[in-house]
Amino acid sequence: MLPLRWPLTIAAGVLIAGAWAGRKGHQAEDPPPAPEPTPVAQEPVAPPTPSPDAVHQGPMFPEGLPMASIGLPEGLANPTAQGCAACHGSIVASWKASAHAQAWQGERYRQAVRDASQPEECQACHLPFAAQHPQRVIHHAEGLPDAPQHATNPDWSPSLQREGVTCAACHLRQGQVVGPRGDGAAPHPVAASADLGSPTLCAACHQLSWPESETAWYDTYGEWYRSPFREAGVGCQDCHMAPQAGPVTTGRFAAHAGHAMAVETSQAVSILLELDSPEITRGAPFAFRIRLQSTGTGHAFPTGHPGKTYIVRAAVVDAAGEPMHDPSEDALVRRVQEEPPFALVEDTRLPARGELLLEHEATIVVKKAPGPALLRVSIFDERQEQPLFERSFPVTIL
Ligand code: HEC
Ligand code: HEC
Ligand code: HEC
Ligand code: HEC
Ligand code: HEC
Repeated sequence: MLPLRWPLTIAAGVLIAGAWAGRKGHQAEDPPPAPEPTPVAQEPVAPPTPSPDAVHQGPMFPEGLPMASIGLPEGLANPTAQGCAACHGSIVASWKASAHAQAWQGERYRQAVRDASQPEECQACHLPFAAQHPQRVIHHAEGLPDAPQHATNPDWSPSLQREGVTCAACHLRQGQVVGPRGDGAAPHPVAASADLGSPTLCAACHQLSWPESETAWYDTYGEWYRSPFREAGVGCQDCHMAPQAGPVTTGRFAAHAGHAMAVETSQAVSILLELDSPEITRGAPFAFRIRLQSTGTGHAFPTGHPGKTYIVRAAVVDAAGEPMHDPSEDALVRRVQEEPPFALVEDTRLPARGELLLEHEATIVVKKAPGPALLRVSIFDERQEQPLFERSFPVTIL
């Protein structure tokens, strides 16, 4: 699904070129400017939400991606998730269940990156620290940005690499742990930052346009930005990092922000069925309309990389779940051209807070005794056998 030939540099130019070029000297004499951690105000002021075109270098990633320095805080021996696990065990466990922990190890990603002509452009988000990269680009021959020169990276940490989007990617900046409160009870320096709770944190990786492209390649932040959720002040973290219960009420064993990032798909949409009559006569065509409403998704359904496809399948099924006619199938997908200008080809997805009406006609031809049956609507990720969720509505076969 992903283009095999990658455009020259990632939008804003910062993701690759900025972080790698002349990195050595840059790191030694001239550390990149730190984002001044914003103190938590009495009345929290929501940080501004820049437009999707301007968000790549969000406040948490002032130098773009990958980040040149980890900035290990004093008092911490090791920047990996393993290092945090001793004290933040349950957060590490839920992060391990997230796609973030699989951002480099995931089989689908490994396959896609093997096929990409400029893998270093992919690694910027999947491996957000320079130290996660065994090789570094030292030089792009002038006029030949397709032919980067590589050298061994002396700072490479295999342990950090396998963790992909690890704790440090969101929490370690300039020798401090960036947290939601900065309450000082921690054995490591803590700086409170409102930027950590802002969708711009997520946008650094969940929003991407290739240069001179007409359409964003990853547009999750853009979809959210254009939705009523932005105005309502409901951000990514509100849905994806809902608090998880803890055994006590204060300290590091208390309830904490969930880190699996998962949201129940069944929470995402409502399925309404419209029938002319609840009674269906065998041999006669009957019409049914499926109304999909986006009730709990803060962006399009599905969102993410182009080509990601959800199938809405519907059929009258018997008691054994066997369809009694050819099921209807509608694809929810956004397709973008795989080369410049990356124009939008089609978008049949359900927009945030939007509605889709899927109209179908079918005829039941199987010989079955008349009686009750179910009209079953299932939503699948086309790459998986198991439905993400389904709803069944009673009907009567005459
Ligand atoms: C030796 C134990 C220990 C280690 C190791 C440790 N922490 Fe902490 N951390 C704490 C304690 C205790 C607190 C205070 C209670 C709390 O807020 O959860 C804390 C607080 C935090 C907070 C919340 C800060 C705030 O806003 O108040 C964050 C974020 C955090 N730690 C991240 C990390 C990360 C990331 C790592 C690994 C790189 C790490 N910690 C390693 C003990 C530890
Ligand atoms: C440093 C980059 C980075 C940041 C910051 C980031 N993500 Fe991600 N996220 C990724 C990558 C890369 C993946 C894909 C991992 C994979 O499956 O290969 C991902 C996957 C996900 C997924 C699962 C997608 C799927 O298809 O399964 C969700 C949900 C998600 N991120 C939510 C968030 C939210 C919410 C935030 C902000 C709080 C956030 N992410 C911040 C890089 C990032
Ligand atoms: C994709 C970004 C991201 C990653 C990766 C990430 N966190 Fe967080 N973390 C956040 C955000 C955002 C918050 C604040 C959520 C909020 O308050 O809405 C947070 C909150 C926390 C807190 C404070 C919890 C609370 O509710 O008091 C701790 C502790 C913490 N993270 C530790 C970790 C550890 C340990 C890891 C690695 C296993 C990790 N985080 C990985 C984004 C991230
Ligand atoms: C109102 C709640 C809500 C908000 C706000 C929201 N999301 Fe989601 N998100 C969901 C739900 C529900 C799903 C599951 C739907 C699905 O399977 O695609 C989802 C799915 C995703 C996925 C795909 C996960 C997968 O398994 O394929 C990603 C990535 C994602 N969200 C990132 C974000 C980012 C980044 C933001 C902020 C810009 C955000 N979300 C804001 C509710 C929300
Ligand atoms: C701007 C940051 C960014 C860049 C650059 C990037 N990705 Fe991703 N990638 C993501 C995020 C975020 C997700 C998860 C959200 C989603 O499902 O779309 C993801 C998901 C994926 C997935 C799906 C993983 C799965 O298990 O379903 C594959 C495959 C992938 N990326 C491959 C690539 C390749 C190959 C490149 C380079 C050619 C690349 N990515 C460049 C951020 C990025």
